[in-house]
Amino acid sequence: MVIGGGGRENAIALSAVSSNNSIYSISHNNNPGLIGISKRHFKVNENDKEAVLSVAKRVKPDLVLIGPEDPLSNGVSDILISQGFKVFAPTSKAAKLETSKSFLRNFMKSHYIDGNVESQSFTDFNELNKWVMGLDYEFVLKPDGLTGGKGVLVQGNHFYTKEEGLSIAKKLFENGMNKLLVERKLIGEEFSLQALVYYDKIIFLPVVQDYKRAGENDTGPNTGGMGSISFSESGLPFIPKSHVETAKSIMRKIMEAMHSEGTPYVGPIYGQFMSTKLGPKLIEINARFGDPEAINVLDLMDDSIVDASIKLMEGNTPTLNIKNQINVVRYIVPIGYGSDPKPSKLKIDEVYLRRKGLKIFYASVDKKGNYLQQTRSRSIALLAKGDSINEIIPKFDGMENAIAGNYYYRRDIGTFESIERKNKFMKDLLSS
Ligand code: AMP
Ligand code: GLY
Repeated sequence: MVIGGGGRENAIALSAVSSNNSIYSISHNNNPGLIGISKRHFKVNENDKEAVLSVAKRVKPDLVLIGPEDPLSNGVSDILISQGFKVFAPTSKAAKLETSKSFLRNFMKSHYIDGNVESQSFTDFNELNKWVMGLDYEFVLKPDGLTGGKGVLVQGNHFYTKEEGLSIAKKLFENGMNKLLVERKLIGEEFSLQALVYYDKIIFLPVVQDYKRAGENDTGPNTGGMGSISFSESGLPFIPKSHVETAKSIMRKIMEAMHSEGTPYVGPIYGQFMSTKLGPKLIEINARFGDPEAINVLDLMDDSIVDASIKLMEGNTPTLNIKNQINVVRYIVPIGYGSDPKPSKLKIDEVYLRRKGLKIFYASVDKKGNYLQQTRSRSIALLAKGDSINEIIPKFDGMENAIAGNYYYRRDIGTFESIERKNKFMKDLLSS
């Protein structure tokens, strides 16, 4: 049973059917990618734990996989686990690593785990004001809860002076924000380190970079992710290998500390790291796969996610077979996504896209008759793969011919120029 209706869940379900499993899927939207491969799709709100439980009781799944974070914080994993279902996802308690950013920061501090970032949380504007006035570094403002990656404001990008940042913080509190974090601004390139975890057993997957900003050349508002690249086990060319190794040890320590505190972690997880001059710093933990990062790694895995997670849950540590390939994902989104999205109708020529060598993953769209209705979120992910960037990028050429409607996508994701720019930026940063 696969819970959630985005591109990541379409990728999870595709991976599951690759080892001849029957899929029951649950999502609030009519996701054609899920519907097409499911034995049965249930159009049910994935955050409604009673409704999800009643579907589970009907279909009696051998394994439950949960894609997004909201069902975790709403107790969907808890209720299914308590009723004896085999769930490869964390309890809401363990998912606190993601659902409360201040919990993660304090947890790392109290366990002396490296990679933490100076961070202070505030429930009162005057206290925040005092703190910010005393800072001698640039900062970011973060809401404490789940914001779908869209709530973080970075000095130098989204506001410039302390005063501007403070006036934004003041408005956020006035508009009902309960808790706001002020964090040191990190400078570097980001990478996502995903893993499969069962208590103290952890299997790391190849690192991925998610292009988070809405605009070309990494400008504009933060989004849930506009697309992503992976070079499989070779690692990202612009991230030092030693940083990935340190990141693994940070994640391992967090998992061990969770275990020792009586809240062991089960399920996919990922660390969002910034590779800085002072080594990798942990921006956040997500208690799930990344979206789009899951699309990259699940396509690189020869083993299905079902086989890998069942083996792990039976106490084995399976060695995964990972393809030696590069892959690039680009998300098609509504115009204005990241600030003020304007959903449109889309029509897709799947045959044309497949002939171009693109793999299609449907996300937050609703199939209605012969068209797709966009929502305010991401619509369709397209994956191209190969042995070199030169072979991969042309596969996206002409995709507009096969997708009718109003939409936007970043044309720079995975290009040689974007990778060169990141290489140069990191080389300058690390030698400065
Ligand atoms: P989060 O919601 O914590 O994943 O943050 C979303 C995005 O905001 C990250 O992927 C970064 O691009 C950016 N960000 C978050 N925290 C920081 C930080 N301390 N310094 C610089 N950028 C950050
Ligand atoms: N790619 C960002 C996320 O899944 O939160």
